[in-house]
Amino acid sequence: MGKLFGLIGHPVGHSMSPSMHNNAFHLLHQNHHYHAFDVSEADLQAAIAGFRAIGISGFNITIPHKVEVMKYLDEVDEEAKLIGAVNTVVNDNGRLFGYNTDGEGYLQSLLKVTGDQLKQMRVLLIGAGGAARAVLTVLSRYGVEELHIANRTKEKAASLASECNQSSKDAFVWSIEEAEQKLHQFDLIINTTSVGMSPNVDQLPIALNNIKQDAVVSDLIYNPLKTKLLQEAEAKGATVLNGVGMFVEQGALAFEKWTGTKPDRNEMEKIVLQQLGGVSNSC
Ligand code: ATR
Repeated sequence: MGKLFGLIGHPVGHSMSPSMHNNAFHLLHQNHHYHAFDVSEADLQAAIAGFRAIGISGFNITIPHKVEVMKYLDEVDEEAKLIGAVNTVVNDNGRLFGYNTDGEGYLQSLLKVTGDQLKQMRVLLIGAGGAARAVLTVLSRYGVEELHIANRTKEKAASLASECNQSSKDAFVWSIEEAEQKLHQFDLIINTTSVGMSPNVDQLPIALNNIKQDAVVSDLIYNPLKTKLLQEAEAKGATVLNGVGMFVEQGALAFEKWTGTKPDRNEMEKIVLQQLGGVSNSC
């Protein structure tokens, strides 16, 4: 019998996950189904109890439930605890086990562009929210030459840096203006904020005047596929990476945890790009 998988979030109407996973099941001749459930914050606990009762095989969690959901799970993986959020749950014979595949998904998509050079890179993260925390956690684990965090509210960057000091090296903390002055020092610049996301496509999280010519600039945003940040970076000769690869990888890693089989990532990307209405610029 086919298994049921799902997504809970609010809203979920425009989620690309159902078609991405259902197409992957189809291609692997797996008779499973993935459905998006719109669950309000007030109903989260009841929804998880319902999932237990019907024996759902696994599910994803998206905004706004990624932190709150941890309360209702039986176990949470170490990296998900460090990131402080769960986006994937596996139902192991009635025990709900939480993981975070966003961080690893981002790392895998980044490595396709940087290769092993990532270890030698001086990295600037822009933003200090949940997405920054996921990226900081995986980059600390992987090990890079230097980690810097710049944020509109510098105190939040300082607090993120001090919470995530599990690596041997501490992260440096800057205001956006300070980071703009020293931009030429960074090999990799990663925007984790929502600045530049549709409909605010004219916004830039940081001015790129001082960018190094051979820098890599990465934006977690995938709508639009090429944010103003990526357009300007490309015009200055940088290599750019959008958020499509991260989205596909986080889904593929969840799929592997649920089914023990590898989905075709290229096919997943095609489905996502069809929905976003464009051609990939993931590298
Ligand atoms: P997420 O979980 O998606 O990372 P979040 O936790 O709300 O979202 O964090 C949002 C991040 O984007 C923060 O770093 C925020 O900066 P502040 O800490 O100063 O609030 C940043 N951000 C959001 N809107 C911004 C804007 N218009 N200009 C600059 N930074 C912005």
